Amino acid sequence: MADNITRSWYKEMAVYQIWPRSFCDGNGDGIGDLKGVLSKLDYIKSLGVDAIWFSPLYVSPFKDHGYDIADYRNISPDFGTMEDFKAVLDGAHARGLKVIMDLVINHTSDQHKWFLESKKSKDNPYRDYYFWRKGRLGNKLPPNDWKSNFAGDAWEFDETTGEWYLHLFAKEQPDLNMDNPKVRQEVKDIMKYWLDMGVDGFREDVITYISKKEGLPDGFPIPIAAGMEHYNDGPHLHEYLREFRHDVLDNYDCMTVGEAPMMTPEKALKHIAEGPDQELNMMFNFQHMEADCLFVSWVHVPFSLKKLKKVYNNWQTKLYGKAWNANYIENHDQPRIINRYGSLKFREESAKMLAVMYICQSGTPFIYQGQEIGMTNIGLTEIGQYDDVSTRNTYQLFRKLGFSDRKTMELAAYASRDNARTPVQWTAGKNAGFTTADKAWFHINPNYTEVNVEAAEADPDSILNFYRQLLKFRKEHDIVIYGQFIEHDHDNDKLFVYSRHYKDQRMLVVCSFCENKAIFKAPEGFDLNEGKLVLCNYKDVRQSANGAILNPYETRVYLYE
Ligand code: GLC
Repeated sequence: MADNITRSWYKEMAVYQIWPRSFCDGNGDGIGDLKGVLSKLDYIKSLGVDAIWFSPLYVSPFKDHGYDIADYRNISPDFGTMEDFKAVLDGAHARGLKVIMDLVINHTSDQHKWFLESKKSKDNPYRDYYFWRKGRLGNKLPPNDWKSNFAGDAWEFDETTGEWYLHLFAKEQPDLNMDNPKVRQEVKDIMKYWLDMGVDGFREDVITYISKKEGLPDGFPIPIAAGMEHYNDGPHLHEYLREFRHDVLDNYDCMTVGEAPMMTPEKALKHIAEGPDQELNMMFNFQHMEADCLFVSWVHVPFSLKKLKKVYNNWQTKLYGKAWNANYIENHDQPRIINRYGSLKFREESAKMLAVMYICQSGTPFIYQGQEIGMTNIGLTEIGQYDDVSTRNTYQLFRKLGFSDRKTMELAAYASRDNARTPVQWTAGKNAGFTTADKAWFHINPNYTEVNVEAAEADPDSILNFYRQLLKFRKEHDIVIYGQFIEHDHDNDKLFVYSRHYKDQRMLVVCSFCENKAIFKAPEGFDLNEGKLVLCNYKDVRQSANGAILNPYETRVYLYE
């Protein structure tokens, strides 16, 4: 079955994401940096990954932690110099690790020279690099009703020329006008600049937002991201992405993965289906991150395994043989997965189960820093302790909507992006071994005395060593990479069971999301005693030919060769 799927290096790799400010501090100033990364390249390689994706390293005022770029061609002094970057690039390549850069082209920083020029006058040559409009009601109200993805209006008034500019994120992140061919040329030049330097691809930030509907019409009035229907997957998106591909990307052996909010498999296929018009190699969708919330993690609902399984089944079956999935359960925008889909009580067991659950599916796995040791949410209790602009804005919005401080802080403790942004816990020593400075730039999760890389290295059964085992297994077995996905026992609300099929091989994956013991009945045709148990997060497990009693959060992978 399914032995003619096209092979490619980007399908076979696993990627480790670094959010540089919190990864490792190499110069003792309390902030993670490239020297720190250099010192950890062997560690990264030891995980069994094949590439590093760097969240933005560029010059930035850091209003949104580097997703507000002031200079696309230089490294932020916070992180080091271009020499430091090249040392990391060479060091990564020497170890067989590819390097993927974050490409943020929907918007720039308001400190980028294009914007500083653009705001000077209405006839400035850079004026049309951004969206400037007169407001409504005698210029008192913004030009339309769009709301920022970070809450609040999506427009900011600028006194210099008496006009408003569009920002779909923070007000310090003005949106670029991609309809202007000069802007697209700038983007292509930036891509070439990094590809010529030797980087291997891009993670393209909110790439589906870059084309706005002409006339910028009013949107459906919701408190966050109103207007989205007029810019997400917008009218010229195909055209622009194809232009980038044909003019630049096709000339390099590189990969792209685009971030795509509100994406469905049907729409994704129009951008990532393989063939001459393929625009991106993969897309990061969000649907599988909504099993415990309504669209955004702030609108929290009880976790539903059935909802999660439905989404996975949809993406796995609709893309197979046509396009490629990008699989992740954590990144710098998502709270830690153990708090959401796993269990603090069964931290180790659930972390391992969740790793199997998504890495054994079809697609390229992405692993976020700290995920491999089972880091958890820090759960800060006062708004003043938070750093993230979206958390602070959303807090204000919830307070305006009538939520108490306590309730809003409860939501933030669950939902804030800052949960993923605490420093990586390297040791049980001072500042978790993250920095030699007196203080790290941000709060360190107090559980670092137990949850840290050093302790995990010393324990053969740690989450870390389980990740290594799992990634090695994936690398050594084509079926894990190229096999077809078939879900079983769809209506079971405690177990996620699926099989993979490749040539004459089969693999059975069993994942329990239950805090108690759970009964597992093997799907028809899978005799458990005939399969080889290749991965499991418990020792001494028992089974009969057609089933087993599973421990809390147990996972098992059986191979039939
Ligand atoms: C993406 C990034 C996020 C950033 C936003 C604006 O969603 O992942 O961190 O805040 O885009 O650039």
